[in-house]
Amino acid sequence: MRVSRKNLLAILGLVMVPLILLSAALIIMAKDREGSAVAPCIFLIGLSVVELLVGSLALLRWQRDHLSRPFKQLQQAAGEIRDGNLDHELDEAEEDEFRRLFESFEEMRLRLKNSAEEQLRTEQDGKILLANISHDLKTPITAIKGYVEGLRDGVASTPEKQARYLSTIYSKAEEMEKLVDQLYFYTLVESGRIPYHFIRIPAHAYFSDCRWELKEELDAQDMVTRYENRVPEDVMIAVDPEQLHRVVSNVVSNAVKYRDRSKEKNMIGFRIYMEGKTIVTEIEDNGVGIAPEDLPHVFDRFYRADTARSASTGGNGIGLSIVQKIMEDHGGRAVLTSVKGEGSCMRLELPVYEENDNEPDTDRGRR
Ligand SMILES: Nc1ncnc2c1ncn2[C@@H]1O[C@H](COP(=O)(O)OP(=O)(O)O)[C@@H](O)[C@H]1O
Ligand SMILES: [Mg+2]
Repeated sequence: MRVSRKNLLAILGLVMVPLILLSAALIIMAKDREGSAVAPCIFLIGLSVVELLVGSLALLRWQRDHLSRPFKQLQQAAGEIRDGNLDHELDEAEEDEFRRLFESFEEMRLRLKNSAEEQLRTEQDGKILLANISHDLKTPITAIKGYVEGLRDGVASTPEKQARYLSTIYSKAEEMEKLVDQLYFYTLVESGRIPYHFIRIPAHAYFSDCRWELKEELDAQDMVTRYENRVPEDVMIAVDPEQLHRVVSNVVSNAVKYRDRSKEKNMIGFRIYMEGKTIVTEIEDNGVGIAPEDLPHVFDRFYRADTARSASTGGNGIGLSIVQKIMEDHGGRAVLTSVKGEGSCMRLELPVYEENDNEPDTDRGRR
């Protein structure tokens, strides 16, 4: 424990004063040849003993008060935390010895407070998501019921009409499947249990496959696709193909969802290239774009820009938070740039896998 200057002075005073008095008594005695100074010497010795006694008592008392005040403050603060009040702030300790302890206590309180708030936020977010998804599920369910009734009651009288009804039912069921999948995946993200299975694969071929898998959906939406893959064929990445596909398809579905219908052509461009030891995948669109005030928040859970909320596009604002989480778990990152009215560009960065890297840890995501 550090001794404060005040304490040092008090201790010095307590020791020095009797020492000086005793020394004075000794000097007087040494010089005294006639024995006439015995009485003053005894007085000085007595005085130093009394000073020592009184001083020690005073020091003990001062020390007790000095210690008991911060202890009382700490006791009260701990009691507040026990009773669930995480807002009770400890004043800064006046005594040097307690400053560090008070600071650590405050840090502990703030951490507890943050984690309690985070837990509350997560619970609320979960409830919002559940409410949104339950609401979004109602639309396809109502549609499916309507079309099934149409089939049952013979409204779809011709084979063509029946086929159309069936295909609508199928696409509505797919819509529901996507929603349920999103909800399920969100619970995995929240509990930190994304089931990753990392493997080594060639980057060029992976993104090329991705592009073909998405082609049908993009063509169906009348999106003009541009694709450029400049990564050499032997460059490897260590990824979970399924989860990385989730990233790409989330970004692509945003490009489709937030396209600018006033434009003659809606485009989506894929550019995959290397930048040092990083594989960069840029997915660019010429959609409605994002306002500068919304851009810093789009990766936040449940954040949807005004334009997205007002347009009836569907969605719950978790897509990009999942994108970011998966990219980070792959040792990479996702960066979005956008100009309102012109379009957006998502930049996905992944580290190149090198021979001397550790074998990909298949269960990296299970934490
Ligand atoms: N390509 C894009 N063009 C325009 N806005 C976008 C684009 N991608 C994302 N956004 C904005 O970011 C928000 C968050 O995206 P996301 O997390 O995928 O949620 P959701 O798609 O469910 O709304 C969207 O609501 C939208 O406002
Ligand atoms: Mg989305």
